[in-house]
Amino acid sequence: MNTKVLPFAAKQLSHIETLERDGFVVLENVLDARRSQKLADELEPWLQATPRCEGDFYGWKTTRVGGLLSKAPSVADLVMDPYILAIAEALLLPNCDCIQLNLTQAVRVHGQERPQAPHRDEEMWPWPTNGQHWLLNVMWSVSDFTEENGATRLWRGSHRQELDRSIDPADSVAGVMQRGSALLFLGSLTHGAGQNLTPYPRTGIIVSYCLGWLKTYENQFLAYPREVAASFPEDLQRLIGYRIHRPNLGGWEGQDPIAHLRDTRGPAPHVDALTPEIAVQLKAHYGEAQERDEDGA
Ligand SMILES: [Fe+2]
Repeated sequence: MNTKVLPFAAKQLSHIETLERDGFVVLENVLDARRSQKLADELEPWLQATPRCEGDFYGWKTTRVGGLLSKAPSVADLVMDPYILAIAEALLLPNCDCIQLNLTQAVRVHGQERPQAPHRDEEMWPWPTNGQHWLLNVMWSVSDFTEENGATRLWRGSHRQELDRSIDPADSVAGVMQRGSALLFLGSLTHGAGQNLTPYPRTGIIVSYCLGWLKTYENQFLAYPREVAASFPEDLQRLIGYRIHRPNLGGWEGQDPIAHLRDTRGPAPHVDALTPEIAVQLKAHYGEAQERDEDGA
């Protein structure tokens, strides 16, 4: 659908190849100790204040906090990490006009939590993906992730097979990583939070990106309504959904929704936002160019 391709470093290409082959890849020590600590400090009050999850999917000994862009300012740098965004775009742009932020979520797996059931995050969308990429997950480690404390379990290569929830846990590997690292994995990969055998919590942040025409896991417009999103930089505003996915999807009063963040002028015209291909087709259909029609003229 879209052929935009950003320039890549060789390392990025190798990470994309690993993602395609294994379904996941770990980028070690992306954040230095100072940034990791700042992130942990910003999150801690929210993790302390939020009750534990309720449900067999979310986990009964797990705490989750969403909408992190308005709670922990440092998360914006994770979301907008250019190296990871370029990988997300390489995987997703072949099937959309622009990518979008699917969610931000802090996840604290408390001591003695049982292993999360194997699942795929693309199960949210009840439609076959036919081997195409719809979602890229990034799990940022706020604490060390170990075999013992519930590091994410990953079934290597499972993205090329049918989902099997009774898949053998012994066939999985743990996404072990030091604090400040990033585990990237495909939305089609079978995975689950690991069992925490220790008395101590392990904490991470999930940032995920999906095709721009999908309904997002997190309702971004409730998480970041106009008065909140208005203070974000424009590239972040657009990533959370204040933009049109061509053709003409997700507008506001027929306008680019970014206008809603800046100024609420009076009535405005609906203005086409077409892909170049459709624009050419419509021109050919009508055979002649037409100009703006002045009302009442
Ligand atoms: Fe998941």
